[in-house]
Amino acid sequence: MTETKITLPESAIPERWYNIAADMPNRPQPVLHPGTGEPVGPDDLSPLFPMDLILQEVSTDAEIAIPDAVRDVYRLWRPTPLYRALRLEQALGTRSRIFYKYEGTSPAGSHKPNTATAQAYYVKGSGRTRIATETGAGQWGSAVALASQLFGLECKVYMVKVSYEQKPYRRSMMETWGASVVASPSEDTNSGRAILAADPASPGSLGIAISEAVEDAAQREDTAYSLGSVLNHVLMHQTVIGQEALAQMELSGVFPDLVTGCIGGGSNFAGLAFPFLREKIAGREIDVLACEPAACPTLTRGPFAYDFGDTSQLTPLVPMHTLGHDFVPPGIHAGGLRYHGVAPLISQLVLDGLVRAEAYGQTDVFASAVRFARTEGIIPAPEAAHAIHGVVQAAAAADAEGRERTILFNLSGHGHFDLGAYDAYLHGQLEDYELPEDEIARALQAIEPLPKPAGVS
Ligand SMILES: Cc1ncc(COP(=O)(O)O)c(C=O)c1O
Repeated sequence: MTETKITLPESAIPERWYNIAADMPNRPQPVLHPGTGEPVGPDDLSPLFPMDLILQEVSTDAEIAIPDAVRDVYRLWRPTPLYRALRLEQALGTRSRIFYKYEGTSPAGSHKPNTATAQAYYVKGSGRTRIATETGAGQWGSAVALASQLFGLECKVYMVKVSYEQKPYRRSMMETWGASVVASPSEDTNSGRAILAADPASPGSLGIAISEAVEDAAQREDTAYSLGSVLNHVLMHQTVIGQEALAQMELSGVFPDLVTGCIGGGSNFAGLAFPFLREKIAGREIDVLACEPAACPTLTRGPFAYDFGDTSQLTPLVPMHTLGHDFVPPGIHAGGLRYHGVAPLISQLVLDGLVRAEAYGQTDVFASAVRFARTEGIIPAPEAAHAIHGVVQAAAAADAEGRERTILFNLSGHGHFDLGAYDAYLHGQLEDYELPEDEIARALQAIEPLPKPAGVS
């Protein structure tokens, strides 16, 4: 009988994170100081981050040991299960095999605690006592609230206003774990006050919330800033997902020829895909697909450029696919995918043809999410539902070509706090947003004066 659920013992929790920078054909171009245009060094970042994380950010070692205290927290939910989606396969009538790695079994409900735990551990070790961060969907804020609590740190979360209003119980969850939470843009920072003055009805965005959290951390010596995606060390911490999945696929006796995940800043996608890309770079044939929302189509419609990571231009300049730092994505329900940029590591892998991307509208995505819930049972986070839609399309395309594929995707979280979105979908109230070309052109004007990456005119 085919196994539905492939599990590993706690002893199989990876002992090292995998750093793809060691193996990629072209490493990302340097992050630049916006004032001097020179590459930023560890001293520029030390007001915000603990030195251990800065060293991980620039490391080119292929593997970095996971501290015992971090593995010990991972044991609360890791290794996560790998499922064979037999019921979905049957409902689709596909000849392809579909597997998913389920990260929704963490206490916060997503992959985010994999890095929040590591970051809280290093913040604690640096002698700081407080973390400031932002959250889009509320998943990241929940993860940092939990990790801060487990390492005895204070935690302040700037939560994108549209999510704050859509998901009040995410706030309750963060508060239960001891965090204080404010809707962003807020009155608590200069960045928030300036944005509210210009647009009192601003729905907020991840770019705005990042500005607030960075400003908070920069002004207080006891506080570190913590980012839930995009940065090299964050993506690296997530590779426990793909390393476990490699071992689980081996147990299942088949190897995937398509590996996919949804993409906001890129952390869950990288977490699953990087260990498989290691195999691809070594010569194995694997199609690696990133699934993004049509309302925030960073990889499919955004150019590769230097841009700020936040709206108020407080961060260094990052080489990445971007829609422009003052692009405010429409208020789609996949709040965690509403970010103007994509991680430099992934942007470079896209440029080098190792990763490809597709964009989907939210009504199609929710149709696939409901199909998944009605067959596999799990109600997926709207972000993760983008990956499900990618899988449904890929399986249909393979069937049309008479091909049989082995597909692996990351189910990055559950959607138990997203039932408002499901409600809207089920009652025909969910809208698709067409993103006009002139809105993209407008937002990209803001990056015109910035330096251009090598090879881009
Ligand atoms: C469940 C889930 N999946 C995916 C994402 C997108 O982030 P990333 O691209 O860093 O994985 C989020 C972000 O909040 C999320 O909550």
